[in-house]
Amino acid sequence: MTLPLIIAFDGPAASGKGTLASVIAQDYALPMLDTGLIYRAVGYQREKRGLTVDNVPELVEIARTLDATGFDNPELRGREAGEWASQVAAIPQVREALKRFQIDFAHQSAGAVLDGRDIGTVIAPDATVKLFVTARPEVRAHRRWLQLVKSAPDLAYEDVLADIRLRDERDSSRSSAPLTMADDAVLLDTTDLGIEAAIEHARRIVRDRRGSK
Ligand code: DC
Repeated sequence: MTLPLIIAFDGPAASGKGTLASVIAQDYALPMLDTGLIYRAVGYQREKRGLTVDNVPELVEIARTLDATGFDNPELRGREAGEWASQVAAIPQVREALKRFQIDFAHQSAGAVLDGRDIGTVIAPDATVKLFVTARPEVRAHRRWLQLVKSAPDLAYEDVLADIRLRDERDSSRSSAPLTMADDAVLLDTTDLGIEAAIEHARRIVRDRRGSK
C-alpha cells in the first residue's frame, strides 16, 4: 500500500505558491486545494451581505455553509477580495469553521496538495513535504501588479505594494494561526528566480523530501 502524499505550500501573498502548487499537483496527479479561495469566498459574502467583521455568528454561518460551486467567480481572484479575505481570516471562529473541510481534503486516501498560510502548521502538520514559498515584497507586488493591470489599466504599482505590505502584516500578526514557517518546512525564496527555475527548485525539494521519508 502506498502512503498518502500530502504536500503543503505556505507563504505570503503573491509568492508564487499557487502556481508551484498546481504544477506539483499535476506532476503527482493529486487533488489540489487553494485555501485562499475559501477565505476569499467568505470575505466576498461578508461584503455582498453588508456585514462587518464584528458580525461573527453570521460570518461563521457563511463559513460553515460555504458552497464550492461559487469558487470560480472571477471576482474572488481580484485585489479587493484578497483584502476582504485577510480580514475575515483573522477571526478565530471563522478559521475554526473552515478547518474540518481542509483537514479532510488534505487527508483523502491518495493525499493532496494544498496552498495557504497555515497548511504545514495547522491543517496538515503531518504533511509529507512542506514548502514555505516567499520573495521580497517589491518582487511579489510587481508580479501581482502585472497580473492585475491587464484588467485594471490604471492600477498603480505602489498601491499593490501597499496592499501586499498590509496583508503581510495582518496575516503574520493575527493571534489565530498566523503565517509562520513550520519547523520542518523547506524555504523556497523565489526573489531571484523566474517561474521555470522556481518550478525546478520546487520539484527537487518534493523529490528529495519524499525520497527521505
Ligand atoms: O492566498 P490568497 O492571497 O488567496 O489568500 C487570501 C487571504 O486569505 C490571505 O491574505 C490570508 C487568508 N488565508 C489564510 O489566512 N489562511 C489560508 N490558509 C489561506 C488564506
